[in-house]
Amino acid sequence: MIWLITLHLIGACIWIGGHLVLTIRILPEVLKSRDFAPLLYFEKKYEKVGMPALLIQVVTGVMLALKYSPTLIAFETPQQTAISIKLFLLFATIALAINARLFIFPKLNDKNLNFLAVHIILVTLFAVGFLICGVAVRFGGLG
Ligand code: HEM
Repeated sequence: MIWLITLHLIGACIWIGGHLVLTIRILPEVLKSRDFAPLLYFEKKYEKVGMPALLIQVVTGVMLALKYSPTLIAFETPQQTAISIKLFLLFATIALAINARLFIFPKLNDKNLNFLAVHIILVTLFAVGFLICGVAVRFGGLG
């Protein structure tokens, strides 16, 4: 159990930390200068660490979740609600990541830069949402 949570938290550090750096430090500069080279550089470097981290989150997260919620999606206890919200955040994150990776990044230009920024900000907010719901599992709900 302690190893599962440790792995889950290492993945969380990488996922949340990386997206906060991207949103708070890199994105504002790129939006101001309209030079998206730093964004492409970050994406290229971060992808190889961020994607395995997300995969670790899903595997360890599901293993942890099964202890509280055998059906995974359920709303009978506060812990189950927090876990269900995490799964919703996961599907929303994957949908945004696929859209950005397959359809926006390959033809990034001045026109769709703002659209990509919305994706990045949403994925970062969802990352913080994962954290809040994770802590809520331990503390007995979001209240
Ligand atoms: C990028 C995605 C994710 C991030 C950043 C994340 C982050 C966190 C954090 C920070 C905690 C708090 C751990 C603690 O209180 O010690 C946590 C706990 C937890 N997470 Fe995640 N998580 C993610 C994905 C998932 C997924 C997909 C699931 C599966 C539904 C999941 C299930 C859980 C569970 C069940 C706990 C409670 C563990 C316990 O205290 O026993 N997580 N998560």
